[in-house]
Amino acid sequence: MSEQIEDYKTFSQVTDARWYPRYHIAPPFGWCNDPNGMCFYKGQYHFFYQHYPYAPQWGPMHWGHVVSDDLAYWKHLPIALKPEEPYEQGGGCFSGSAIEKDGKLYLMYTGHLSATPEEEAAVGYAHIEFQCLASSEDGVHFTKSEKNPVIEDVDVADKDVSIHDIRDPKVWEHNGKYYAVLGSRTPDMTHGQILLFESKDLVKSWRFKAISARSEDLGGMWECPNFADIDGQDVLILSPMDLNTEDGKFYGDKVAGVLIGKLNYRSGIFSHGDFQYLDKGFDFYAPQVMQTPDGRSVIIGWMDMWNVDMHEAKDGWAGQMTVPRELHVKDGKIISTPVKELEKLRKWKPITLKDVVIDEATTFEGVAGEACELVLTIDAAESKKFSIAVRASDIEQTVMSYNSSGIFKFDRTNAGEVINGIASVREIQIEPQDKLKLHIFIDRSSVEVFINDGAEVLSARIYPKRTSQKIIFIPENGLLEIDSLEFYKLDFGIPHPHIKDTTEDLTEKFPFLKG
Ligand code: FRU
Repeated sequence: MSEQIEDYKTFSQVTDARWYPRYHIAPPFGWCNDPNGMCFYKGQYHFFYQHYPYAPQWGPMHWGHVVSDDLAYWKHLPIALKPEEPYEQGGGCFSGSAIEKDGKLYLMYTGHLSATPEEEAAVGYAHIEFQCLASSEDGVHFTKSEKNPVIEDVDVADKDVSIHDIRDPKVWEHNGKYYAVLGSRTPDMTHGQILLFESKDLVKSWRFKAISARSEDLGGMWECPNFADIDGQDVLILSPMDLNTEDGKFYGDKVAGVLIGKLNYRSGIFSHGDFQYLDKGFDFYAPQVMQTPDGRSVIIGWMDMWNVDMHEAKDGWAGQMTVPRELHVKDGKIISTPVKELEKLRKWKPITLKDVVIDEATTFEGVAGEACELVLTIDAAESKKFSIAVRASDIEQTVMSYNSSGIFKFDRTNAGEVINGIASVREIQIEPQDKLKLHIFIDRSSVEVFINDGAEVLSARIYPKRTSQKIIFIPENGLLEIDSLEFYKLDFGIPHPHIKDTTEDLTEKFPFLKG
């Protein structure tokens, strides 16, 4: 594929840009969307992502690649997959997952083949999706399988499945067999569904097993299914789209969450409870799950949403990921908390305060920043109603508010550059408790807030001026009583020293990186 690169920004121009994250994964240039292939292989965490390296907009998909020793510091590696084969002409290498077998790392992904207008007129389809494999011995260089595609349209020809939308395989091993769930929909496009495939060998042949689960009122297409055993429960992670937003049940026509239940490996049927959100913010989609060596289930989501303004595109990049989050199931409810490894980014002495009572808008010395973390316990029973403004200045602020009846509000109306395509205020009802715990991660163009030990999470992109760094505590109805406050400035998670070896690798492929 030959692409013209016009007005390309160098890596350091991108990463010095005003909204480029300090500690979240983002592409070194160009575009990213879904997380892909998150895994632990040969002593390192690998994380891939949907990537278009030639412009800060979606285009034929490549797989970008970063690695980490600890889930806190990441380093860019060369692009792992690019669209070269006949079965991936058009959309390219769509989302998928990773698995280790016999010392090799396998990526299972979707080849998205677009029809030309003539073909479309002749055969009546715009695109077809195939499932493919690529493998690597070193976790860096990948070779596509000669057997590709390993799952084809003919494999579902007589099933109640659209051959146009069948993608995003998540592969795992269970009792010596390999299983993959695929996101799909019915041929009439009215119901999203999950397909289960099985294989004895992973690499040669795959067999359709069942339509594991199907939407009743949960959208017309289920994207990016992921599957994990979490605290003894089978958890299906999914990103439904084409949701009906009229009755206000869903925040948007695309959301991401989980179904908790039990997969019957014999029948392939997944029985489950109601849909639960993984994140109730504006920007969270297509999360991917992995098992850490010590048995935790960790997810990272794309911290953006389709068809919404991404102002960073002006600076040569677009899209970023959330922090890694550990999942648990507690009393049937999904809980997500930031992984403990993120504490490694706390490079400076913390500021801690205890039992502070204020009766007017207050800032605390040193508690401010564009890349920082705030851990708070607030006496919600006493404080009744209050707000916390972050990335604030005289002209803009991102505001989180709470009142003791349990309404938590996230307002980015005046956060900076206006974000079109989605509402700017989100209000959620949480279980009111006497103490409200907030764990907030602030980065150059994002805020993630974990409420009451991960019972709720909200993630949002924002586009403030770099100088808007204040954190303001605002009592709205009398006193605000802060039981404890911890504040940490955070280090570069993708530190600049790594750029040197990164550009060396990448300049071979991308001469424009020579600057
Ligand atoms: C989800 C998604 C996936 C697809 C990928 C393409 O965001 O639509 O279903 O594989 O993006 O980039």
